[in-house]
Amino acid sequence: MRHFLLIPTFLVFCLSVRAQRFVRFISTDGKEYYGDAILPTNTTDAAKSTHAKVIKGDILGDFQITKQTKEIISLLAPLPSERVRTVRCVGLNYVSHINETNQTIPQWPILFYKPWTSLNTPSDPIPVSEGYQTQGDFISKMDYETELVIVMKKKAFNISDDEALDHVLGYTVGHDVSHRGWQIDRGGLPQPQFSMGKGADGWAPWGPAIVSTKEIPDPQTLNIWTKVNGVMEQNSSTANMIFGVKHLVSFFSMGTTLLPEDVIFTGTPSGVNLGKTNPTWLTNGDVVEVGLENVGTCTNVIKYV
Ligand SMILES: *[C@@H]1O[C@H](CO)[C@@H](O)[C@H](O)[C@H]1NC(C)=O
Ligand SMILES: *[C@@H]1O[C@H](CO)[C@@H](O)[C@H](O)[C@H]1NC(C)=O
Ligand SMILES: *[C@@H]1O[C@H](CO)[C@@H](O)[C@H](O)[C@H]1NC(C)=O
Ligand SMILES: *[C@@H]1O[C@H](CO)[C@@H](O)[C@H](O)[C@H]1NC(C)=O
Ligand SMILES: *[C@@H]1O[C@H](CO)[C@@H](O)[C@H](O)[C@H]1NC(C)=O
Repeated sequence: MRHFLLIPTFLVFCLSVRAQRFVRFISTDGKEYYGDAILPTNTTDAAKSTHAKVIKGDILGDFQITKQTKEIISLLAPLPSERVRTVRCVGLNYVSHINETNQTIPQWPILFYKPWTSLNTPSDPIPVSEGYQTQGDFISKMDYETELVIVMKKKAFNISDDEALDHVLGYTVGHDVSHRGWQIDRGGLPQPQFSMGKGADGWAPWGPAIVSTKEIPDPQTLNIWTKVNGVMEQNSSTANMIFGVKHLVSFFSMGTTLLPEDVIFTGTPSGVNLGKTNPTWLTNGDVVEVGLENVGTCTNVIKYV
């Protein structure tokens, strides 16, 4: 009798520990689910997944990966925007990007925030409202920035670098949409206006999945890129980050509590328009793909509204 009871418990345990790619999606019944994405053979891009194992419970607390498989009709952002209380972003975290923009290497991480209304799905359009469009002698200067994004799992206050990863759920890729017109040209010189230039609605696509720290034990080894209309514009490695994931989490926890579901965009490598002699600023209809190795891609079209 006893061993019959043990079998289901053992199965649940086995399935839970294998959670790798947390996704949130709409299935064929029109309902929303959390799931562990099933990768097609040949790719680790969760955006290409057509099915997921349904997750019951809270991905930040107690959950189970069930044996039920659902078809993915559309991938949502990995967490609902309103659950993400703080979107932290790091500026100037790759030497190549600092060089291309003629700035100096910071001694401490440069932090700014985006409102959570800026979060977007891995595939919806990036809306550009009238005040951000080119008009008269004001040139919009829209730019792309691919970034590794950290998703917090547990509260963190005053923690060390060594404790940092215990507080992290996983990693995803994010697009820090940037508008140099408002960020720099209409910034209060000598200070740029990061928030006006980067915080508009939908200007932070993220996803397609949160890949667990078990699947990515070392986040500083991943290829990271951007393609604009299919052409590679950024192509680097997270190995080139000045301040790595562990240090960013510990540094930001100094005096400020990081909460579960908070996300941290960790800065972009070189290749952005801002660093180019002849930039081709993003405009209506341009398709931007940001990608991170072993995580996947977000592909969003710029849409004037
Ligand atoms: C895997 O990708 C390669 C190159 O893109 C392709 O030739 C091959 O057919 C793919 N295999 C499968 C099983 O999809
Ligand atoms: C630094 O930027 C300049 C252009 O501003 C470029 O010519 C040079 O190759 C860059 N150096 C590095 C190490 O990226
Ligand atoms: C950086 O400096 C170079 C050389 O002076 C200049 O051509 C370029 O426009 C500058 N780039 C930025 C983003 O200021
Ligand atoms: C922060 O952590 C350090 C090292 O563990 C400890 O000495 C210090 O008292 C802590 N500070 C606060 C405000 O908790
Ligand atoms: C991008 O970088 C990776 C890793 O360094 C390299 O293998 C690949 O060839 C690069 N792709 C392009 C299009 O430059």
